[in-house]
Amino acid sequence: MMDYAQPNKSLYGLPFTANSFNGMPYRPLGPTGLWTACVGLGTWKFGYPETGDGSRVNRQEAMRIFDRSIELGVTFWDTANRYNNSSGNSERLIGEWFKANPDQRRNVVIATKLMGLMDGQTPNHCRLSRANILDAVHASLQRMGIDYIDVLYFHRYDEVTPIDESLETVCDLVSRGLVRYLAVSNFTVDQLKLYQAHRRQLGGRCQVAAVQNQFDILRGENPTYRGVLDYCAANNLAFVAHQPLANGLLTDRYLDLSQVGPGDRLFDEGTLDKIATDAAMAKVKKLAALAAQWDMRLSQLTLAYTLSLPGMGPLIPGISTVAQLEENAAVGTIKLSDEQKMAIRKALRDAQ
Ligand SMILES: NC(=O)c1ccc[n+]([C@@H]2O[C@H](COP(=O)([O-])OP(=O)(O)OC[C@H]3O[C@@H](n4cnc5c(N)ncnc54)[C@H](OP(=O)(O)O)[C@@H]3O)[C@@H](O)[C@H]2O)c1
Repeated sequence: MMDYAQPNKSLYGLPFTANSFNGMPYRPLGPTGLWTACVGLGTWKFGYPETGDGSRVNRQEAMRIFDRSIELGVTFWDTANRYNNSSGNSERLIGEWFKANPDQRRNVVIATKLMGLMDGQTPNHCRLSRANILDAVHASLQRMGIDYIDVLYFHRYDEVTPIDESLETVCDLVSRGLVRYLAVSNFTVDQLKLYQAHRRQLGGRCQVAAVQNQFDILRGENPTYRGVLDYCAANNLAFVAHQPLANGLLTDRYLDLSQVGPGDRLFDEGTLDKIATDAAMAKVKKLAALAAQWDMRLSQLTLAYTLSLPGMGPLIPGISTVAQLEENAAVGTIKLSDEQKMAIRKALRDAQ
């Protein structure tokens, strides 16, 4: 914890308000007063790979990435209790970092998720019941060594538990200061509408601030959840795109498929053939040519265009190295012109 009892000369003479931090522009998260960095950090693959949790980024690299994130203003950190084989290890690494950097707590907006089986195997270790929400929040707080969660996501819709029970529990957690904002993930438009209707009865403390669904500029939204981005734009919710780089395909590293191998995520996870189809690669190459013309990396073109879409909230690309973090963070200040956006749309449409 910051020691507020002592004067801190490095903070003398601050202006009244700020819209950015360490050079990174921020935006309000949907209808809330919470501001989040335009480029955040996805920590799904952060863990302890040596334990067999299936993660890609080990403790040492994760600590370097967290340190550099602060320097670059990449302060919206996305995790989930279940990340890496329901181990909780992504949250544990965040906890390790906060232990070493307690003064940084207020500089970081922590978003975590609950819903799926975690910390046990009974039917009460999953779903969005009062019991599971309360127990899961306490467990996440303990793993991260923090005393509140900035944004609590429901990881998926729960077909079974009454919505009022889930939302009232979040209201209670907000009242107790353990959670600050609610968001949802992998929701359809109809499911969102149900939540919006209940929220009107229960009030602002459990209003949905953001929706985290799959989206990348190559494939658009996952068909099951199509229409949510437009719904967010029309209803002032922040759409948070998960897997915005198509797990790495929308970066320069897959342009020559003959060079792809161990160490490249799509190869390691066995998904390359499914995603890198001829049609997809034709588009990727057109986009890469535009990026080269504009002196950008393909990842930067992808993220800058994604960020410019109506309804889009903060980005949370996953990264494996500090170099990737630096490249992606630079997108916060890239503003594509209308001509550039038109050229990108044309490349996505026209490629054969
Ligand atoms: N709510 C949900 O259900 C859900 C589901 C999935 C993900 N998420 C969240 O969304 C976040 C992002 O998704 P994601 O990590 O699955 O996919 P992603 O952001 O589309 O892709 C991340 C991968 O792209 C590569 N990469 C990133 N920046 C790069 C750069 N500048 N140059 C070259 N390669 C780069 C890295 O691959 P290498 O590892 O090969 O270097 C990295 O693992 C996750 O971390 C997680 O927080 C949420």
